[in-house]
Amino acid sequence: MPNINTQIRLASRPSGWVTEDNFTTTSEAVPDIGNEQLLVRNIFMSVDPYMRGRMNDVKSYVPAFQIGEVLQAGVVGVVVASRHENYAEGDYVTGMLGWEDFSVSDGTQLRKVNSGSQPLSYHLGILGMPGMTAYVGLHTIAGAKPDDAVFVSAASGAVGSVVGQLAKIHGCQVSGCAGSDEKVALLTESLGYDAAFNYRNSESLPKSIKDVCPKGIDVNFENVGGEIFEAALWSMRDFGRIAMCGMISNYNDEQLQPGPRGMMAIIGRRLKIQGFIVTDHPDACQEYVAKASAWLNDGKLIYHETVADGIENAPTAFIDMLQGRNTGKQIVQLSAV
Ligand SMILES: NC(=O)c1ccc[n+]([C@@H]2O[C@H](COP(=O)([O-])OP(=O)(O)OC[C@H]3O[C@@H](n4cnc5c(N)ncnc54)[C@H](OP(=O)(O)O)[C@@H]3O)[C@@H](O)[C@H]2O)c1
Repeated sequence: MPNINTQIRLASRPSGWVTEDNFTTTSEAVPDIGNEQLLVRNIFMSVDPYMRGRMNDVKSYVPAFQIGEVLQAGVVGVVVASRHENYAEGDYVTGMLGWEDFSVSDGTQLRKVNSGSQPLSYHLGILGMPGMTAYVGLHTIAGAKPDDAVFVSAASGAVGSVVGQLAKIHGCQVSGCAGSDEKVALLTESLGYDAAFNYRNSESLPKSIKDVCPKGIDVNFENVGGEIFEAALWSMRDFGRIAMCGMISNYNDEQLQPGPRGMMAIIGRRLKIQGFIVTDHPDACQEYVAKASAWLNDGKLIYHETVADGIENAPTAFIDMLQGRNTGKQIVQLSAV
């Protein structure tokens, strides 16, 4: 086992777009563990849009990262030493640990995962937080019904790629948008979307949405915000539901943007809009993981991920994801399975 632990810390808070300068890489000896602690060799690490918010010094639903501290992330790893009664050497675990090769944990915020049935990385994506978010947003929040027309923004990403597949399993019509022709092809040719468009090429977002969703939208799964959200609002049908999942188009803004125009549609079309945070819905998440495992085994769900290599490339992977260079879930592989 290597005896050096490479870690990524927050060097400075971004103003606008995140850059590599906002991170610093440090190395220290792999730490010893105390009583009731375990040492995890991290194998896969997740980079997620919400981390951009944690780089700002503002109060939110998760605490801000602190300058100089090792950044936190969802991780899958293997226990390499344990003085904790619930964990043994060789156990595979997932939970919130650090942007680092090895993490010490007291076992809180960790759970064991089965290494046999699905690839370990899936616990950060389709069987982890992004997949759960897709299920909670579509079913618990938006109450999708068979035959509903569902529209998804950032449709080829970690959450969006699962939303579309879940909606198809549920008998919905599904359309969406993504940021390249290759991603659009993936949506319609592999992920089961009925129609999709490349928003970067669109001359009129409202028209493009109308083209892919001609009868209008019953359920808008909103991942992006800004102009795409505004355009979706124009296409909402009476009594439509909007699951406000994320607003990634705003995350790097230095100034707050004015809200979308056309808000009157919310009244005239009797729309229901609800924001949500996936961690508020543990029962639905558990229900989802059981269903998704079966659907993966049956081939009803498929999964795409983009994998960066090595802890030193985690900042680039994070920036790439914010800029749309990922397809499916962006993760970083830190060590061999
Ligand atoms: N509420 C919750 O509990 C919860 C949980 C997880 C995630 N989320 C939210 O869900 C959304 C998707 O997250 P994810 O993990 O699945 O990320 P992701 O979609 O895998 O990656 C982010 C994607 O956002 C798209 N994007 C970036 N800037 C954009 C812009 N200005 N306009 C349009 N698209 C843009 C890019 O794809 P393109 O190439 O298509 O532009 C990029 O690949 C995020 O808003 C995130 O904050 C919410």
